[in-house]
Amino acid sequence: MKLNESNILITGGASGLGKTMAMHLQGVAANVIVADRNAEGLAALQQECPGIKCYHADLTDYAAVQEMVGKIFAEFGKLNVLVNNAGIIHSEPLINILQRPDTKHSLENWQKTIDVNLNAVFYVTVNVAEQMVKTRSKGVIINISSISSYGNMGQSAYSATKAALNALTVTWSKELGMFGIRCAAIAPGFIDTPSTRAALTEAKIKSYEQATPIRRMGTTAELLHGIVFIIENDFYNGTIMDLNGGLSL
Ligand SMILES: NC(=O)c1ccc[n+]([C@@H]2O[C@H](COP(=O)([O-])OP(=O)(O)OC[C@H]3O[C@@H](n4cnc5c(N)ncnc54)[C@H](O)[C@@H]3O)[C@@H](O)[C@H]2O)c1
Repeated sequence: MKLNESNILITGGASGLGKTMAMHLQGVAANVIVADRNAEGLAALQQECPGIKCYHADLTDYAAVQEMVGKIFAEFGKLNVLVNNAGIIHSEPLINILQRPDTKHSLENWQKTIDVNLNAVFYVTVNVAEQMVKTRSKGVIINISSISSYGNMGQSAYSATKAALNALTVTWSKELGMFGIRCAAIAPGFIDTPSTRAALTEAKIKSYEQATPIRRMGTTAELLHGIVFIIENDFYNGTIMDLNGGLSL
């Protein structure tokens, strides 16, 4: 698929990886659209890149998502690429014996992580896919998964949501292929973003870098390279692209 003929929606594009993708694709793609709940981040993005169309929405709100998707298709007519990038990184062990008196993983944190990383992806995709089919938009849905989808110690909720995205990637690729819509995922290892640095201690980052054969985190540019490959290669479908410097080996 040609980038310059593609309308691209990136969720969670007000910061981190999503913002890098949006800023690099703007001017290369036909239209770049960003949806995020972070109003301040969207305002900053809008100022840096006035060509990007920003929508303010909490994607865990089904009605808000439905309304937003309706507006996007009314304005742009078609959408070719959806990048399901919005997400939260949550780390918490199943049982924490140092946390007294309740040693259990917080139910609230479990539900919040599932809501953002899994439910919201379904809300956005089901509404976008319906409109893509109706408007005969050909294209690709890209889920941003994680190396944690293979099971990461201390990340029950996060790992569960990302494993679910891997399964949905395969399911949606099988269901939507007949409409000319591919589905693929990228499962990044540790990418150097502010949220990675906020979620992990310096010592943890050092230990992950030591465990990675190439001894470093990935860059946002390397992730972007994977996204562009998936968009442009029309035979790439139903596959999870591991992008982790060899950490999963
Ligand atoms: N940074 C990494 O190393 C890494 C590695 C693997 C996977 N990922 C995945 O990449 C994605 C982006 O991560 P990041 O590091 O850029 O994080 P980030 O926190 O910088 O960006 C996430 C964005 O999603 C938005 N968002 C969160 N919940 C939302 C909601 N309910 N509605 C609308 N917007 C919402 C946030 O406002 C934010 O702008 C996530 O899905 C994350 O799990 C990141």
